[in-house]
Order: sequence, then C-alpha cells, then structure tokens
Amino acid sequence: MKLTVKVWRQAAPQAKGELKSYQTHASPDMSFLEMLDVLNQNLIKQGEEPIAFDHDCREGICGMCSLYINGRPHGPKQTTTCQLHMRSFKDGETITIEPWRAKAFPIIKDLIVDRTAFDRIQQAGGYVSVNTGGVPDANTIPIPKNIAEEAFESAACIGCGACVAACKNASAMLFVSAKVSQFALLPQGQAERKQRVEKMAVKMDEEGFGACTNTKACEAECPKEIKVTNIARLNREYYVAKLTSYELASGGGD
Ligand code: SF4
Ligand code: FES
Repeated sequence: MKLTVKVWRQAAPQAKGELKSYQTHASPDMSFLEMLDVLNQNLIKQGEEPIAFDHDCREGICGMCSLYINGRPHGPKQTTTCQLHMRSFKDGETITIEPWRAKAFPIIKDLIVDRTAFDRIQQAGGYVSVNTGGVPDANTIPIPKNIAEEAFESAACIGCGACVAACKNASAMLFVSAKVSQFALLPQGQAERKQRVEKMAVKMDEEGFGACTNTKACEAECPKEIKVTNIARLNREYYVAKLTSYELASGGGD
C-alpha cells in the first residue's frame, strides 16, 4: 500500500506544532504502529527526527497507544490503535494522525500527551485502602453473577483516554464512572464508597476535564465497550454521597 501520512509534529510542550506530510509504504497485515515503525526507520535513515508516539503492550491491554486517526480516537475501528490493521485503510489513502486533544492532556512531544491527570484521579480514591484481611477463597464472598459481571465489565477500562478525546467537552466521566463502578458494585468497595466518589469527582474537575452532556461519543469510541450506564451510576453514587455527607463528617454510615 502506498500512503500519505500527515503527522502532528511538535518538538516540545510549548513549541508550535504543525501537520507534516510523509510518503510511506505498508502491507495490509501490518498493525498501525508497525506502519509508524517503518516510517520512523526511514526517517532515521534520512537523518530526520523520528515521530514520538506512545505504545507499550501492543496487545490492547495497557491503553498507551493514544492516537487520533482521521478524526477519531484509535481510528476507524472501535479498538485500540495497536490492534488496528492497515487493511482498514485503502491503497493511496491519506491518513491524518494527531495527539489526543484536551486541556487536561497537554502535549509532551509530537503524538505523546501527558495523561497523568488520570493517575491523579485514581490516586484520589480509585482503590481499596481498608484492611480486608487475608485473601479469602473467591466463593466465600457470595456475589450475584450479574453483579460480578457488571463489575468485571467496568474494570475492563484500560485508561486509554479515548473517551476524553472523543468528547466535545473533553469529559472524563466515562473513565471515572468505570473506576467508581468497579468498586461500588462489590462488597470490598463499600467501606470507602462515599469518600471515593466525592474525591474522584472533585479531582476530575480540578484537572480541567469538562462536563458530560450525554452525546455518548465516549461510548461509541471506547475500545473496551464501557457503557454510559456507568455514568448514570457515577451520578447516583455522587448524589447519595453528597446527600449523606453529614454521616461522613460524623463518622457514621448507612
Ligand atoms: S472508558 Fe474506555 S475510552 Fe475511556 S479510558 Fe476507559 S477504556 Fe479508554
Ligand atoms: S499499546 Fe497497549 S493498548 Fe495499545
């Protein structure tokens, strides 16, 4: 396949960026990242600076491969960029590659953005810190199958940030709602349930993410098919926590 690839090049966070055009070749069986590897090898041979882009597992697990391809996070398929293959494009096509665009994800270099805002939201409450004792056998904590499956589906979020990149408001609600849900649904998450949602929601706002206006662009682009019903649960969790916050202040509970 002969391709024209337009790539966002930006030398440093404060530098002026621009789209630069390159001619390259790829085989239909290559992954999108392999196509970029080949392009980079040729740039290095020509004495040019290779294109900086994030990647790690290349198996759809780590969420690092954050590329905005032809106007869509992770490109034309609802998958991660590393799982996208060149057969999804046509011979002779022009492909435009940009970084995630969101105030809370500032550009570091070329296609790499700083997504540590997600880490800070997680650190604000996305964990279980109470002493839950030794590891019991899984079947000694009875959890209805449908609830276990729902929690598992929420826990599938890989923190890639495509939901933020897809959203016109750069909202992080789908990500935060998945993280809140995976704990809110399970017995182990109950002790810190109210503090968790309040702290994570406050941090989300502090980091500069926008509000959700129910366009569902996040759900349409999420490579792990996280549902917007998680956002409804996040809102419920938040309201309940707020309405009963006197209990938190007084150390009481349900
Ligand atoms: S909710 Fe989906 S799109 Fe958003 S960070 Fe998680 S896996 Fe990525
Ligand atoms: S490189 Fe890990 S999900 Fe794509």
